[in-house]
Amino acid sequence: MNPQTPPVNWIENKRAREIEHSPTVDGLFPPGISRQTRAFHSRIPGYHVSPLKSLPRLAAMLGLGGIWVKDESFRLSLSSFKVLGGSFAIYSFVKNQLGVKELNIFSEEGARLVREELGDFTFAAATDGNHGRGVAWSATRLGFNSVIYVHENTSQARIRAIESNGARVVVVPGTYDDAVRQVYQDAQENGWQVISDTSWPGYEDIPRWVMQGYTTAFSEVQEQLAAQGIIKPTHVLVQAGVGSLAAATIGFYAQLFGPERTRSVVVEPEKAACLYLSAEKGDGKPHSFAGDLDTIMAGLACGDPNPQAWQVLWDTADVFVKCPDYVAAKGMRVYGVPLAGDPFIVSGESGAATLGALMFIMQRPEYAPLREQLALNRNSEVLLINSEGNTDPVDFRKVVWSGRHPVPEEYQSLYEG
Ligand SMILES: Cc1ncc(COP(=O)(O)O)c(C=O)c1O
Repeated sequence: MNPQTPPVNWIENKRAREIEHSPTVDGLFPPGISRQTRAFHSRIPGYHVSPLKSLPRLAAMLGLGGIWVKDESFRLSLSSFKVLGGSFAIYSFVKNQLGVKELNIFSEEGARLVREELGDFTFAAATDGNHGRGVAWSATRLGFNSVIYVHENTSQARIRAIESNGARVVVVPGTYDDAVRQVYQDAQENGWQVISDTSWPGYEDIPRWVMQGYTTAFSEVQEQLAAQGIIKPTHVLVQAGVGSLAAATIGFYAQLFGPERTRSVVVEPEKAACLYLSAEKGDGKPHSFAGDLDTIMAGLACGDPNPQAWQVLWDTADVFVKCPDYVAAKGMRVYGVPLAGDPFIVSGESGAATLGALMFIMQRPEYAPLREQLALNRNSEVLLINSEGNTDPVDFRKVVWSGRHPVPEEYQSLYEG
């Protein structure tokens, strides 16, 4: 860790405020799509609405109206939101293969039909952990095989979690992006169907379904906020790897509220900031981030943006932020040891990055212009997504119990509003 690295570097995406209506959002997230995805997910045995947790004490301390955390750390007994995307993509692919508009894939008759038509079928995916786990889980539930590609730095805990969901795991040299390329090549040779959370030319349906699947979480959030008398979050901070979750989040609110949409901040690790870089280049195209993507935020360690997701973010995301690892580590500790009266939340490195970023943004004097720019104040109801729980127990304890990645001395003094 370079102690000189400031907790937050940010760049404003000015054009987003000028765009009232994005045809890209309409294409990827047509009106009503979250109703469809939620209808599908609700049929999965074991589906529950994930909790929306309120941190009122922390909100008051930071000078905010409310902090709402969509806690995905137990989604379908896995530890992350990712299964929402993989499961909906597999379902949509199967429906397409069968040429049907409706299919209850979890009924006895639906499952039999699928087996008759598709037989012994294999789904494949590249992953930095969570997506592969979701694809393996979904494929196994539906009676299919799965092969999941991981990069060489993937922890044993993550590999075991994927295998325990029924997949064969293949470890390849390089990064997540290399695993994406390798699985595609091997799938062509072996007749597997790739379920990727990122797109490339000619491969767009499946990643679109993956992103659409994520919107179930926000359809739930809207109901949960409505029960508290809140129409929508005023702000959302969303963490990004390839950008599919961020596009689903911000696209969902853009579709629902148009120019009145929730203000958005996309948060990335500084060592894998491909979307920040793309915003900085400012030519409207996605740009790859070079380097070894060496960050504790394993789920966000992606060098190539999802081009489809990037188009949504280019049209709708207000601010891009990149943070060093100690920001995520701080978020994990604050979630785990909250102020008295707030609930505690188990959050992994990628899950906690946005809380860490929010705290520095609200508490450091140098971020006053960003607070002002975003109108983050006592009227703000801020949505965060705890996108993963304790997905890597060894590293989790190193951070939370042993204090790895401490906040550097010079960034410890706080602005108390
Ligand atoms: C826990 C977690 N949070 C966030 C993300 C980011 O999602 P995306 O790659 O769609 O930007 C991932 C991706 O794997 C993840 O595992």
